[in-house]
Amino acid sequence: MSARILVTENIVGPGMEGLKAKYGMDWDKDLWRKPDELLRMVGSYDALVVRNQTKVTADLLNGATRCIVVGRAGVGVDNIDVKAATDLGIVVAYTPEENAISVAEQVMGLMLCLARRFPGADASVKRGEWKRMEFMGMELFGKTLGIIGLGRIGARVALRAAAFGMRVIGYDPYLTKNHFTVTETHAELVDMDTVLKESDFITIHVPSTPETKHMINKDTLAKMKPTAYLVNTSRGSAVNEEALYEALTKAKLAGAALDVREEEPPEESPLHELDNILLTPHVAAFTREAQDRVVESLAEDVDRVLSGKPALRFANFPLPKR
Ligand code: MLT
Repeated sequence: MSARILVTENIVGPGMEGLKAKYGMDWDKDLWRKPDELLRMVGSYDALVVRNQTKVTADLLNGATRCIVVGRAGVGVDNIDVKAATDLGIVVAYTPEENAISVAEQVMGLMLCLARRFPGADASVKRGEWKRMEFMGMELFGKTLGIIGLGRIGARVALRAAAFGMRVIGYDPYLTKNHFTVTETHAELVDMDTVLKESDFITIHVPSTPETKHMINKDTLAKMKPTAYLVNTSRGSAVNEEALYEALTKAKLAGAALDVREEEPPEESPLHELDNILLTPHVAAFTREAQDRVVESLAEDVDRVLSGKPALRFANFPLPKR
């Protein structure tokens, strides 16, 4: 009997077609919204394929008695109980490199929008106005960019920012100054306080962990320049939105751009009323190119594990232990 795959979110592309042709596949792009139904079904599948909205809890994994691989279309595995999967011997395959360029490009776009106020200018012209002096902006050239987390995405942002003539500093507790990410991007490795105090722009590239929760809070915001801008395309949990609102409304921070939120989708929020914040719906990784790479790599690894070969990209181990 051929293996069966359950897909719980909107994950499409040639890679998925290949999997469908080779294995049995059930796909419901809204199954992530129906956790009880998912729990009832999951025991009949050898592989589970998700994006970021399916909560792959220990309960779900315990019910996934046949499952040998959970495939995550993306880089953040915070929606998966990786420890439970590991204890059960289930491979967690993911795509750590595949969308990094798109996220880095979005960061550059958001910084330019903040510096030049393009969204406000666009809305103004469409209202019939022509207020050139109101949209006086500033250059990125010569400004200091502080990158929190110099991993695959942070390093790519560093390279692009350097091409804009920015001074790049970075904080990453897991890197040392001779790590190739630091030497090749010429980002100066500094401590967190230096990033907070010296940066004109700060961009966050951290996973969602207890250590990073609310790392941007009332105290850290107070250390930033009142003229600085904050960009977060990583995980919403890194920024305390209440503290951010206070900083943005009390002139303690010039502006911010958030692609990710503490709650997704967000409830009504006072942030939505502000002119000095730019909000996008967790789309940094959503380009055709990135999604094609994500789906292709994910499908490759799900196929490899189902056919007894080691996964090439995994968050725990490459072969199932069950
Ligand atoms: C990722 O983790 O890959 C991105 O945030 C996009 C996503 O969650 O799907």
